[in-house]
Amino acid sequence: MKLGIVKEIRAEERRVAASPQVVGKWVKGGWDVLIERGAGDIASYPDAQYEAAGAQLVDRGTAWSADIVVKLRPPMLDDDGTSEADQMREGATLVSYIFPAENPALVERLATKKLTVLAMDQVPRISRAQKMDALSSMANIAGYRAVIEAANHYGSFFTGQITAAGKVRPAKVLIIGAGVAGLAALGAARGLGAIVRAFDVRAAVEDQVKSLGGEFLTVTIRESGDGAGGYAKEMSKEFLDAEYALFRAQAKDVDIVITTALIPGKPAPKLWFTDMVELMKPGSVIVDLAAEKGGNCELTKPGAVVVHKGVTIIGYPDLASRMPHVASDLYGTNLLHFLDEMGGAAGHKIDHDNDAVRPALVLERGEKKWPPPKKAEPPPPKPAADTAPPVDAGPFRSPPTAAVHPPAKSHGPAVRPPSRTVGMVMAGIGLLAAIAFLYLRYGTADALASESTRALLQHTTVFVMAVFVGMQVVWNVAPALHTPLMSVTNAISGIIVVGGLLGARSDGALYGSTMVAIAATLFATINIAGGFLVTRRMLAMFRK
Ligand code: NAI
Repeated sequence: MKLGIVKEIRAEERRVAASPQVVGKWVKGGWDVLIERGAGDIASYPDAQYEAAGAQLVDRGTAWSADIVVKLRPPMLDDDGTSEADQMREGATLVSYIFPAENPALVERLATKKLTVLAMDQVPRISRAQKMDALSSMANIAGYRAVIEAANHYGSFFTGQITAAGKVRPAKVLIIGAGVAGLAALGAARGLGAIVRAFDVRAAVEDQVKSLGGEFLTVTIRESGDGAGGYAKEMSKEFLDAEYALFRAQAKDVDIVITTALIPGKPAPKLWFTDMVELMKPGSVIVDLAAEKGGNCELTKPGAVVVHKGVTIIGYPDLASRMPHVASDLYGTNLLHFLDEMGGAAGHKIDHDNDAVRPALVLERGEKKWPPPKKAEPPPPKPAADTAPPVDAGPFRSPPTAAVHPPAKSHGPAVRPPSRTVGMVMAGIGLLAAIAFLYLRYGTADALASESTRALLQHTTVFVMAVFVGMQVVWNVAPALHTPLMSVTNAISGIIVVGGLLGARSDGALYGSTMVAIAATLFATINIAGGFLVTRRMLAMFRK
């Protein structure tokens, strides 16, 4: 199978669809990779690196004539209706950004060539498809870059400093929209030492904001902003009014505002108005990531930097492309996983039952397949107390906790209540233990007469208490803190092993208590070994 990589020809685009590292993996996987000469130059990937990785350097026409062509930006459509992709063979496959809702004329044109077209921008945001989610990869880079751009225009330190010449206070950063880009910006700004606050309409992100060291701002109106597929929905006028009031209070205090608010399929919501800009101190900076979709700030000019009454407003729509080296590598890795999901070089096919691939299928041999058929929605979860934004008297609710997680998109509830089944099992264990306790205390003829009955009674009491206390403690710990919790349970398991070994001592006869002690030792050992394995894997994720 021939896989073609073509050069991006949009003037402002600096990325390429794959790095030499990704190409090396494709070659190992059996793909015949043809790359257009000079495709990676601007992203600092010279031709020699692609050649060394096993790709063939070819002219533009040959790269376009491959069985599958991968690229980043949607193919350009000229005024006369012809497209960059017209050079493709009839029946070949194109994998790139398409944005089919915004580019119907392009889709029509690609259909006339009987192409199969898969849109990387339509890969769903589901856990299983995270490794193929190019929009998230790029948003992560854009969030980081937004902080770098802000720092470049801001006339002071991000971190506070005490110098011989005087004290410098830390910069205060407000992030509006704590999705992928917002969380990446939060991590970067915290890394530079700023005080960071974040606001989002989805209460589920509160934990993530806190785990990265940010303060989560709230308003007094209770309304859930959770929309379909983990994205936000449009909010009521009352909620937005409360949000604007919060922002007006913040505008006087913060130095940097990074806006990333997005509602899928809608223009960017206007959240930062001219009067808010004018409330900010001169020298403050606003970075509007939503610039391409009209901007979250009323004064944003897409593609430009404007200064309004001393406040700089940055509206770059190409933040990810400003870091082309890493962006090309991550986009290529998303493509690599996507092609693997479709069977790789040996078994390439489009499986309509694949929930990561089907939503991205725009055309199949020229036949329109987008939008994908709607699946029956699972019944909506019952509204729980923790899915609505918490009521709060003021803007700052609770102090930040230590950063333990990398920015990752999760749309689950912040604190998981015990499931019904687990609750019933626990209640069952508790009930059995309580019956045993009552029987031992009152039911046996020689109640409390013998030493062993007294000891068993004591142990049963401790066991019942441990089940209830343990369950309460574990389920009230936020998911962000599950890793440190694991370390604590490892320490407890160590104590259990010592207790089990002491309890397993016997005079040679096999008593019930000896067997329980052996079982406790075995399970605690499994827990310790498993804990170490999981910790090792997690540490490997952070190792540079
Ligand atoms: P996302 O969907 O992960 O995050 C957007 C967040 O905004 C969500 O958490 C949502 O709940 C929140 N939100 C929606 N309405 C809000 C409101 N009224 N108030 C506060 N928060 C609100 O999206 P992602 O991937 O983080 O992208 C964010 C934005 O960045 C998008 O507009 C995207 O197009 C843009 N982007 C810009 C780039 C650039 O170079 N300028 C590059 C990549 C993405």
